[in-house]
Amino acid sequence: MNDLTPPNDISHVIEADRAHIWHHLSQHKQYETIDPRIIVEGKGLRVWDAKGREHIDAVSGGVWTVNVGYGRESIAKAVYDQLIKLNYFAGSAGSIPGSMFAERLIEKMPGLARVYYSNSGSEANEKVYKMVRQISARHHGGRKSKILYRERDYHGTTITALSSAGQPQRAMQYGPFTPGFVEVPHCLEYRAQWAGPNYGIRAADAIEEVILREGPDTVGAIVLEPVTAGGGVIVPPEGYWPRVQEICRKYNVLLHIDEVVCGVGRTGTWFGYQHYGVQPDFVTMAKGVASGYAAIACTVTTEAIFEMFKDDVSDPLSYFRDISTFGGCTAGPAAALENMRIIEDEDLLNNTTEMGARLISNLNALAEKHKVIGDVRGKGLFCGAELVADRATKEPADEKKVQAVVADCMAQAVIIGATNRSLPGFNNTLCLSPALIATPDDIDAITHAIDGALTRVFG
Ligand SMILES: Cc1ncc(COP(=O)(O)O)c(C=O)c1O
Repeated sequence: MNDLTPPNDISHVIEADRAHIWHHLSQHKQYETIDPRIIVEGKGLRVWDAKGREHIDAVSGGVWTVNVGYGRESIAKAVYDQLIKLNYFAGSAGSIPGSMFAERLIEKMPGLARVYYSNSGSEANEKVYKMVRQISARHHGGRKSKILYRERDYHGTTITALSSAGQPQRAMQYGPFTPGFVEVPHCLEYRAQWAGPNYGIRAADAIEEVILREGPDTVGAIVLEPVTAGGGVIVPPEGYWPRVQEICRKYNVLLHIDEVVCGVGRTGTWFGYQHYGVQPDFVTMAKGVASGYAAIACTVTTEAIFEMFKDDVSDPLSYFRDISTFGGCTAGPAAALENMRIIEDEDLLNNTTEMGARLISNLNALAEKHKVIGDVRGKGLFCGAELVADRATKEPADEKKVQAVVADCMAQAVIIGATNRSLPGFNNTLCLSPALIATPDDIDAITHAIDGALTRVFG
């Protein structure tokens, strides 16, 4: 117990939840016999549940969002000050935090120029899809409307975002889908699809093969995560990204990088793509932009793309006729500005790089001890350990056992994640994404819990 323990009995809250809440990604039958988990309070890297139990949160709010940690009074104050001044006006007008955050963001993204606000990662991605379709309609006579996406990547929950899901279990039962989306192969070398050297180049060449098969004049864009997150923490192999850029330029295919997870510090640079020297045409971001203190998503593009939407003022349909009601909430950019200041003033990008290296090294040490760890991978503070039943054949570990590891860590009051209901047969990667403020002790506590869990579950 500690001074953050809620003083009052909140059993009524649990009953109200059981009676009325529909939780995301949850089979509710279980709540007929166990209590739904209610998280009551957070501070730094720790959260407290309804029973007052303290947990280390190694997944930043479950889905990699609370990058600067919980309980940041300065963000709460920035949001409060903004809300009492002006809480909302539709995006057809500007706002002070909206323009100030856009200016600060663009400073971090050389080559990009324009920010379109909305309120979720799915929505930010759909904006790009609509822009690509409109460019096709206005500038390519309806050609170049197809959008490529990659096996194992994820871009959101709406039907069209799911049309670009490289994770079949996320999409199953939700079709029919939006036409015009075409899959390209993943680039996970541990699960290599081609033999031979220079795997990164080979995996990127597979994109060219798809473009040639579909016909270059049918393909308008490709959407890729810089480091695949929920699809198994896939760090692209050496040579992959430069070759992707070359292919995009060769066939005039716009490059859309989905930074919804990696954006704003998660991998140790402001954006994941900045590790690889590529120049995107679109970048989307959401989760960590304001660390979950307010909802905000951004679709960022170049001035050249933006200019295409001003081409004919006499045509009433020539501009981007999109609306996001809550894109006009000022709390988002107000929180995002303060979030960015914290990352800079507390040197969190360097901390992410250092703590990420420690996490990888701890996981590699665990791999020496536990045969069940087949592969360790990650960038900054997004790391994964793929569990296998057999190192030689790489047969994936039983999904139930992977989930048992997550449950055992939870029983030790350490919240970790695992790929789940994404890839049939391959939901076998533990996922770790603690807040960027993690200390060496936090990292060691997380891997210590995993060590114990692996011993108990796999022996
Ligand atoms: C890479 C990626 N893109 C997009 C999304 C969708 O974001 P949202 O849930 O905010 O719509 C997610 C969510 O996990 C994601 O991981």
